[in-house]
Amino acid sequence: MKHITCIEDLRELHKRRVPRAFFDYADRGSNAEETLRANRDDLQRIKFRQRILVEVSKRDLSTTILGEGASMPLILAPVGLLGMQHGDGEIHACRAAQSAGIPFTLATMSICSIEDIAAAVDKPFWFQLNVMKDRGFIKSLIERAIAAKCSALVLTVDLQVIAQRHADIKNGMTVPPEWSLSKILDFASKPAWVAGVLHGKRRTFGNLVGHLKGTEDITAMSSWISSQFDTTLNWKDVEWVRAIWPGKLVLKGILDVEDAELAAKCGAQALVVSNHGGRQLDGARSSIKALPEIVGAVGAKMEIMLDSGIRSGQDVMRALALGAKSCMIGRAYTHGLGAGGEAGVAKAIDLIARELATTMGLCGINKIREIDDRVLAV
Ligand SMILES: Cc1cc2nc3c(=O)[nH]c(=O)nc-3n(C[C@H](O)[C@H](O)[C@H](O)COP(=O)(O)O)c2cc1C
Repeated sequence: MKHITCIEDLRELHKRRVPRAFFDYADRGSNAEETLRANRDDLQRIKFRQRILVEVSKRDLSTTILGEGASMPLILAPVGLLGMQHGDGEIHACRAAQSAGIPFTLATMSICSIEDIAAAVDKPFWFQLNVMKDRGFIKSLIERAIAAKCSALVLTVDLQVIAQRHADIKNGMTVPPEWSLSKILDFASKPAWVAGVLHGKRRTFGNLVGHLKGTEDITAMSSWISSQFDTTLNWKDVEWVRAIWPGKLVLKGILDVEDAELAAKCGAQALVVSNHGGRQLDGARSSIKALPEIVGAVGAKMEIMLDSGIRSGQDVMRALALGAKSCMIGRAYTHGLGAGGEAGVAKAIDLIARELATTMGLCGINKIREIDDRVLAV
């Protein structure tokens, strides 16, 4: 990984090593991808104040996230189907995060189950919950996360209606995949990926195994999942989750200040300003644009995290300067995973850490808590 110098290099390797349907599933956004682009464009428009001759020999990226020590203000976001980017992908990503001293969030729609991860790592991880129609199943998932000693529950609140990603339809990106000659040839040209996935613990939705009585059939599971997205979901359901989950609760997918104010009243410790990485409401504004207003309204009451578009340490610095306490990354580490498993995820985290340390140095900053809007050029 010596010649990998930025997340884009990991993305290029990911593209070469993983079948196109899975690469595109990770890489692309919804509809016309306006919001996907806005996330990057708006971050890159934010410029720093270069400061000189400030002693920066004692730079320290450490911070706290939800009251726990972390080596830097970064979290691996929940990403579905990581085990299809690399065999046992969720375990690889969790191990890399824990070695780096940052939290990993396991998605409900993961390939490895909650119990697979708990058995494979020593430290607690976070669990992300989609509230689906079958509330009995959701309650049992929360209980499994409690039994696995997950240290935070991330409740995703922007998935009530699923947006369309054109690339997934064109690529027949279904679980199980729709087969075509070009897809078979594509898979055949990625033998290392095929071997990795075949040797992985599972090739299906690990958290659902055993739930659909009498079938482990992946087609049956997929159609059950698509029937489970719940358009009736509302703030009462958040109260219901709050009553069952005793630990730290994070609401993920807030972009509007009125929603942030409601979130601050529901007993959650944190919220993630997020547009799901440009995969949901196309035409929504970028997360970084939404951030300052939300920090102003509820930043004193809750911990504010941000995701969507973070690809570098410079981006983390931008979000922190506008009031986020930490950032989540989705694609940045998924590219690392597709490029090189655990080592690739470790590389992604290390790249961002180094970039953040350099940016702090060139802005005359030594500590994470010193970062505020004074580091920005107006
Ligand atoms: C391939 C992929 C799958 C995702 N799956 C989930 C998921 O299952 N649950 C969830 O809450 N968010 C999911 N997300 C959204 C991420 O948690 C995060 O919000 C997003 O990736 C942040 O944007 P970024 O990729 O630009 O960093 C997914 C994102 C990607 C790229």
